[in-house]
Amino acid sequence: TSVKQPYRTSYHFQPPKNWINDPNGPMLYKGIYHLFYQYNPKAAVWGNIIWAHSTSTDLVNWTPHVPAIFPSQESDINGCWSGSATILPGYKPAILYTGINPQNQQVQNLAVPKNLSDPYLIEWVKSPHNPLMAPTAMNQINASSFRDPTTAWVGPDGRWRVIIGNKRDRGRKGRAILYRSKDFVRWTKAQHPLHSAKNTGMWECPDFFPVSAQVPLGLDTSINGPNVKHVLKVSLDDKKHEYYTVGTYNSTTDRYVPDKGSVDSDSGLRYDYGKFYASKTFFDSKTNRRILWGWINESSSEDDDIKKGWSGIQAIPRTIWLDKSGKQLVQWPILEIEKLHNSQVVLPNKLIKGGTVLEVSGVTAAQADVEVLFEVKGLEKAEVFDPTWTNPQMLCSQKGASVKGSLGPFGLLVMASKGLEEYTAVFFRIFKGQNKYVVLMCSDQSRSSLNNSNDKTTYGALLDVDPLHEKLSLRTLIDHSIVESFGGGGKSCITARVYPVLAVEDGTHLHVFNNGTQSVEVLTLSAWSMKKAKIN
Ligand code: FRU
Repeated sequence: TSVKQPYRTSYHFQPPKNWINDPNGPMLYKGIYHLFYQYNPKAAVWGNIIWAHSTSTDLVNWTPHVPAIFPSQESDINGCWSGSATILPGYKPAILYTGINPQNQQVQNLAVPKNLSDPYLIEWVKSPHNPLMAPTAMNQINASSFRDPTTAWVGPDGRWRVIIGNKRDRGRKGRAILYRSKDFVRWTKAQHPLHSAKNTGMWECPDFFPVSAQVPLGLDTSINGPNVKHVLKVSLDDKKHEYYTVGTYNSTTDRYVPDKGSVDSDSGLRYDYGKFYASKTFFDSKTNRRILWGWINESSSEDDDIKKGWSGIQAIPRTIWLDKSGKQLVQWPILEIEKLHNSQVVLPNKLIKGGTVLEVSGVTAAQADVEVLFEVKGLEKAEVFDPTWTNPQMLCSQKGASVKGSLGPFGLLVMASKGLEEYTAVFFRIFKGQNKYVVLMCSDQSRSSLNNSNDKTTYGALLDVDPLHEKLSLRTLIDHSIVESFGGGGKSCITARVYPVLAVEDGTHLHVFNNGTQSVEVLTLSAWSMKKAKIN
């Protein structure tokens, strides 16, 4: 029951029990959304990996099905690891996934639906030609670093392309190995990887997709052209973080060139500056959106995971598009999630003086969607940004919510206990930079729980918003043990896991706070109690 399971989610995707990791093969087929995911049917820790399967008509409520892909062939007998779906001509879905063979080598396999007239795609048949791609003496691919095929796309020559995550045999160079095929069955490795970067280690779960440089809509995966940019995302095994770049894909030379930066830099772009990994996008042809799924793991100890009987959830699906600047992506929770909005509490326009903690009551604070818009005045009072502060996460941990500043910290105290013995602070600080203001966004978990066996690391990111001309918005989705925050309309996102002892269920409170010396104005604040979704 909820009393014994205070950390289970009400509207974030999770199965009834056991371990989950990466989202796999998300797609829309005949009006039904499919989500597969890495699942251990036997325990709350990683192992025995198969593809579990759920479907939905709205991306909010989910129906479970029998596992779709599980060990049954030599080419996957030791595990069915991550992969992606591609819709082939004739409206035929196909899944490419990594199998672990008897020698524990990573190989790539194909599975197709047994019955195309079943919109739930319950049964999958594996290709008799599996594995379709394998490490050999000839291709010199490292057999323990060759996994996670992407959704395939078609080039101008009509051939399919797919990339596979890899690390060079010697050294730490991460690569996206490219394969091509005419028939989706016989694949040939290209001479060059699509992209690579030194000292990045293994690239897990690559994702490669076009984004429109003109409109905030999604594009189908094979689209390319003058107003199209491409995004390459990789999940770095060494760092357990994802990085992406925006760049140009030349489909004749099959090379991807980032506009700026690299997936290897500490200052690189991330989908999420908290917990979010092994993510994958798909194109929703019904609404012309590109939708991002990502795995959020636990911050509790393995012992606690075994005790509670489960580990891992999926983030709320996010619509993803290229920002007007062309420099970064923007993400926003899918609109359908607002179907769960129950009663709404509105805080009228209010000046929040320095040193204020203001409770927002009348909302189920452990299960809520909160959106607040701040206006900051007196910017001339901003503290000076020290150019040696190159690591926003470090800055947020040094300047946590309890450290007084001038403009900030101000924001929300969520998952707070009555006497504020416990709280998670999601907040901003504004500094004066060289020739512009610098906005720092933080999620401070250091006081989130009286239980010290949890990982309470603070997260932080810079937010590309100019407080001189723009208002500063924060939206936070709260779901018992999840605090998923979107700053500046989705320009920087931070997801955290928290496990309060006192701030559970009805003992949970929500506040707006300002611990700076300068006042800030709340233009609007809406907090919705969230209904429970039907999940599995
Ligand atoms: C990423 C990952 C993938 C792999 C899968 C195994 O979390 O390690 O690289 O395919 O999980 O479960």
